[in-house]
Amino acid sequence: MQSTYSPSVIETTPSFEVFILFQQLVQTKLGIHLSKQKRLMLGHRLSKRLLHTQNLTFDKYFQYINLPDNFQELEIALELITTNETFFFREQQHFDFLERVILPEQSRNKELKIWSAASSTGEEAYSIAMLLSDKYHAPWSISASDVNQSVLAHAQKGIYINDRAKQLPENYKKLYCSRGIDEFEGYIRVKPSLRERVKFFRFNLINPMDELEQFDVIFIRNVMIYFDDDTRQHIINSISRKLKPAGYMFISHSETLHGLQHNFEPIQPAVYQLKNSDKKVYKW
Ligand SMILES: C[S@@+](CC[C@H](N)C(=O)[O-])C[C@H]1O[C@@H](n2cnc3c(N)ncnc32)[C@H](O)[C@@H]1O
Repeated sequence: MQSTYSPSVIETTPSFEVFILFQQLVQTKLGIHLSKQKRLMLGHRLSKRLLHTQNLTFDKYFQYINLPDNFQELEIALELITTNETFFFREQQHFDFLERVILPEQSRNKELKIWSAASSTGEEAYSIAMLLSDKYHAPWSISASDVNQSVLAHAQKGIYINDRAKQLPENYKKLYCSRGIDEFEGYIRVKPSLRERVKFFRFNLINPMDELEQFDVIFIRNVMIYFDDDTRQHIINSISRKLKPAGYMFISHSETLHGLQHNFEPIQPAVYQLKNSDKKVYKW
């Protein structure tokens, strides 16, 4: 028997009014701004959940995920809305800068601490780990966080389709990954010795960062592009407090700090260094 909520045809796109409700929810929970052009995308990503929830309409689904008992479905909806595209050694210039500039200037008796602040499925954090393991012969640690629990679970497993790991140099694949066999044919897995060097945890970038430690380098790439200016300003303020003096921040080459107030020195495209420190500021 059909539920009283079931429409005769499954909706594929929310009405404009209902889209606004989702837009506000996503803004409040994640800081992500969904422009009006994202209405079709939202419909596409959530429509499969309508089938799972008694063929609800988008309107009813919105009410459903806002009931206290249904917080898990709310999590699922929010996870479907985030964009998790990432790959190994994305934006190679950052890894070159890390190797050529940052590593040589570190004091070798202090631990180098790096945070991948929107790590998605882990390729960014493992790329950093591979580079450090290969090139940096002093203590280091990597923290990696994301708001989306599913991508974090994927990251912790460290299993990737080989075809999607094209940017990973062959020698790094050999050194740091195992090749899958039988049902894992076509997959690679980051070796446990490297996986255990990366600490993954859940963190929403719009939340206060007081509990987090300070880092020498923060990768915050391909995430601020989804936020509005107020949220970006708030996050940039928080990030600058989480960097050690003269620490570095990497944003994506498709992002900008334009229009934001900040205390960073632009070093080269998408590389910033915290100002106002006793330490020598790197000049290109
Ligand atoms: C496109 S991926 C970027 C991955 C990686 N940094 C890169 O550049 O390849 C964006 C990630 O940001 C995460 N994200 C979105 N909003 C967030 C928030 N408020 N707090 C933390 N992570 C968030 C998403 O879950 C997604 O995994």
